[in-house]
Amino acid sequence: MPPRTAAIVLAAGKGTRMRSARAKVLHPVLGRPMISWIVGATLEAGFDQVVVVVGHQREAVADALRRDFPDAPIGFAHQAEQRGTGHAVQCALPATEGADAVAILSGDTPALDADTLRRLAQLKAERGATLVVTTFEADDPTGYGRIVRDADGAVSRIVEHKDATPAERALHEVNAGLYLADRAALADALAQLTTDNAQGELYLTDAVALTAAHGGRVAGFVLHDPFRVAGINTRAQLAAIERELLARRLDALMEAGVTLEDPASTRVEAPVEIGEDTVLGPGVQLKGRTVIGRDCRIDAGVVLTDTTVGDGAHIKPYVVAESAEVGPGAAAGPFAHLRPGTVLGPEVKVGNFVETKKATLGRGAKASHLSYLGDCEVGAGANIGAGTITCNYDGFDKHRTVIGEGVFIGSDTQLVAPVEVGANAVVGAGTTVTRNVAPGALVVSRTPQKEIAGYYDRYRKPKAEAKRRAKAAAEAQTEEKG
Ligand code: UD1
Ligand code: MG
Repeated sequence: MPPRTAAIVLAAGKGTRMRSARAKVLHPVLGRPMISWIVGATLEAGFDQVVVVVGHQREAVADALRRDFPDAPIGFAHQAEQRGTGHAVQCALPATEGADAVAILSGDTPALDADTLRRLAQLKAERGATLVVTTFEADDPTGYGRIVRDADGAVSRIVEHKDATPAERALHEVNAGLYLADRAALADALAQLTTDNAQGELYLTDAVALTAAHGGRVAGFVLHDPFRVAGINTRAQLAAIERELLARRLDALMEAGVTLEDPASTRVEAPVEIGEDTVLGPGVQLKGRTVIGRDCRIDAGVVLTDTTVGDGAHIKPYVVAESAEVGPGAAAGPFAHLRPGTVLGPEVKVGNFVETKKATLGRGAKASHLSYLGDCEVGAGANIGAGTITCNYDGFDKHRTVIGEGVFIGSDTQLVAPVEVGANAVVGAGTTVTRNVAPGALVVSRTPQKEIAGYYDRYRKPKAEAKRRAKAAAEAQTEEKG
């Protein structure tokens, strides 16, 4: 049987330097809370169990994780007072009972990926190590714990920046804060930590020297891509890591067959999926659980949130959509607003300045200009004229409008819900529909057209001439005076 592995994620700190009312690990990175990135990576790497050490805003942190990973084996350990990284692991260790190996990660390193975790486990197995410490060469090691190696090059201990001698501070190999240890040896080491140091804290890093002193084998896992363990302490660091994650994400999308007309202005959040041969124009933002099919065009300035777009659809410039579905071959925009509950069937066309909400449009239906379609169902092939409004709200409740297949609705029509227009009916332009319309009928509610012949000559022309004469007289008088 393979050894059981647990991951402990340290996330109890407040993150003072973020200057935020929100716990640091809840700040979103490319649309996903920081903590969800790291927990997602541990789950993807195959850890049997994840224990998150929570303190500041522990309920909010737990809620975010339960929402993002509803069925995952995630537990929580409460660290009421932050007495150091060693203390944090002490709080979580009992919850990992039964595991053979335990990884320790920081909740503020969202770029850590499953592949790095797998390589960490692989190195531990290859070296038969008791404890593996991840390290990297820092250009500026200030603030990091320094890796001290013995004459044979083996890691012997870690010294924190504040406790380090000038010679130790000159070391550039630093502790990344990512470990994998035999649980039993870790438990022994944790039991012996003291607060005898510059910060008066229980340092997890002291477990290294303690493990070595007890005959354990400590190995260093040297990372050549330290971006993977880069921690976030400030909003500037958050922006920098986000930029790098986005750049790597966009490269992967291009690799997978997506064309980006302007990668520098394109933003694709974490869980978004995009099919082959789809083209994204400049300034496109794809957020949340948006899924785009193959062969789509998403034009400049489009912002899609939690929206599904079928194969071959065309989203024209400056469309904004949220929790909407766009069917294959459909087209929307420019300047359309697809609000939650919009379902556009295959080949549907929604044009400029059309707003939809809880609206289902059947195959091939068209609403090409200036309309509001809310709480309604539009049958296949129906044509909604310019300026059509579903009057769905009476000031108290929302009501539904049902428009049958093949209906033709003339321009500037109001449909006062609840109301139904039967299949193939025709609604004349300018009609206010207040009662159901039978299938195949024509309905018109505007006042009949009247015509008065010679109106201009009789009423308008004499007035216009009088006005012109009065103006000429006034000008002549001003000239005399001058
Ligand atoms: C730690 C390491 C340092 C390493 C650096 C890498 C120690 C003593 N030092 O320093 O060697 O180079 O990380 O970034 O471990 N946390 C808790 N409870 C606590 C204290 C911390 O949950 O009581 C959490 C924090 O929220 C954070 C993580 O542990 O997510 C790391 O803590 P932090 O205070 O940032 O440690 P560093 O001083 O950066
Ligand atoms: Mg830190």
